[in-house]
Amino acid sequence: MGLKEEAAHNRKGIEKMKIAIVGSGYVGLVTGVCLAHIGHDIVCIDNDRSKVKKLKEGHVPIYEPGLEALLKKYIKNKKLKFSYSIKDGAKEATAIFIAVGTPSKKNGDADLTYVENVAREIALSMNDYKLVIEKSTVPAATGKRIERTIRLNIPKKYKKGNKLLLDFDVASNPEFLREGCAIDDFMNPDRVVIGVQSKKAEKILREIYKPLKAKMIVTDTNSAELIKHASNSFLAVKISFANALSQICDHVGADVLKVAEGMGFDKRIGRSFLNAGIGYGGSCFPKDVEAFIRLSEKSGYNFELLKEVRNINEDQKAAFVRLIEDKLWIVKNKVIGVLGLAFKPDTDDMRNAPSIDIIKALQSEGAKIKAYDPQGVQNSKSIFKGVTYSKDPYALAKGCDALLLITEWEEFKKLNFKKIKSAMRQPLIFDGRNLYHDDNLEKLGFEYYGIGRGDIS
Ligand code: UGA
Repeated sequence: MGLKEEAAHNRKGIEKMKIAIVGSGYVGLVTGVCLAHIGHDIVCIDNDRSKVKKLKEGHVPIYEPGLEALLKKYIKNKKLKFSYSIKDGAKEATAIFIAVGTPSKKNGDADLTYVENVAREIALSMNDYKLVIEKSTVPAATGKRIERTIRLNIPKKYKKGNKLLLDFDVASNPEFLREGCAIDDFMNPDRVVIGVQSKKAEKILREIYKPLKAKMIVTDTNSAELIKHASNSFLAVKISFANALSQICDHVGADVLKVAEGMGFDKRIGRSFLNAGIGYGGSCFPKDVEAFIRLSEKSGYNFELLKEVRNINEDQKAAFVRLIEDKLWIVKNKVIGVLGLAFKPDTDDMRNAPSIDIIKALQSEGAKIKAYDPQGVQNSKSIFKGVTYSKDPYALAKGCDALLLITEWEEFKKLNFKKIKSAMRQPLIFDGRNLYHDDNLEKLGFEYYGIGRGDIS
């Protein structure tokens, strides 16, 4: 069954629900569009009026495959609306998702200012029972704080002494969406986690997700919040483990790809997220690992393991730069071409992209940087100074002393390396994602360096 038939089939027998989603960033938008797709009536709310205007016209401000087409479809059939007012947007909704940003403070804590503001506004616009669902990644016990904020701010007309005259629930329903394949992750989840304090909240959330026919994990709200932090941190542990392994492989002359393959066949370990490279980036892992370290400290536990995960991740970028500096010998005035800027393929997201530290370190040594990325160029322009952008990988290779593969976009897998080689000044390739591990680039006359392939000496 295709996505369309699947959605129609799954919708049979479900109660259509009116749902508001506060925050039209990455998570909020994908959630809103996908909930419309499985049959609910959605209003997405954001206080950025110009963003709301663009969304109403069917323009998605981020690059996510498939999102804009679905958005346009559900705007057209009126299942998806937009508003900049929580009061207007949420008044008819039974369920209100909070999907606003939770950025890092300077000390690594999650900044929950937006979450608090939204909770207060929801309280002020209460007119009936509401289920308030936190979707953003938040520290444990945030649900309790949201509940208290709502209780304290509900208008006086709904209070009699300390007693509330209208009922509400707060639940946690963390997202596990990966950028670049978020729609598929939403429609075919490994599990849907719901943290609830009442049967009523559980029933509503089960009804919302019924069309997905997914495995439901029902917990208390604190545990659901922790599941999200623990999952992201554990994935970061796997990546840093593979990266640490890659360092050992280079020193003993082993191949990290073979080691990961050999480990991955053990079902208890699994092969995924054991890809060594130049470290994890993005808006989630770096921020969430940091927030989990802080949360642990506050609860009296020193999470040394996660601190090391973070250190290994930082070292991995530095080691890549050291390798380039060593093999280039003199970096000053060398022209270095960077294939890929975004933190991963299929996104234009530059947040915490490894390309940032790597390019800035090489620039500080006097390298001249050229770059190409299928989607990330626009967002990178405010980050870099002195980078020149090329229109495709072949224009990028022209005159380069070395090429760096930073982001493993599909289109980079099928390059014509003969053409690339003849365009370059000297044929050096540093493959930060082991994308070309099978391509025998040495046979074409390149000096090729991967990550943890035992080939750097
Ligand atoms: C991550 C999680 O995978 C999602 O489940 C979660 O919902 C999301 O964070 C979030 O908290 O919102 P995302 O950051 O979009 O999703 O991307 P991933 O595919 O997980 O990749 C994260 C980083 O790890 C990328 O920089 C990627 O290149 C790197 N990575 C991933 C590796 O270096 N090696 C691997 O083996 C896998």
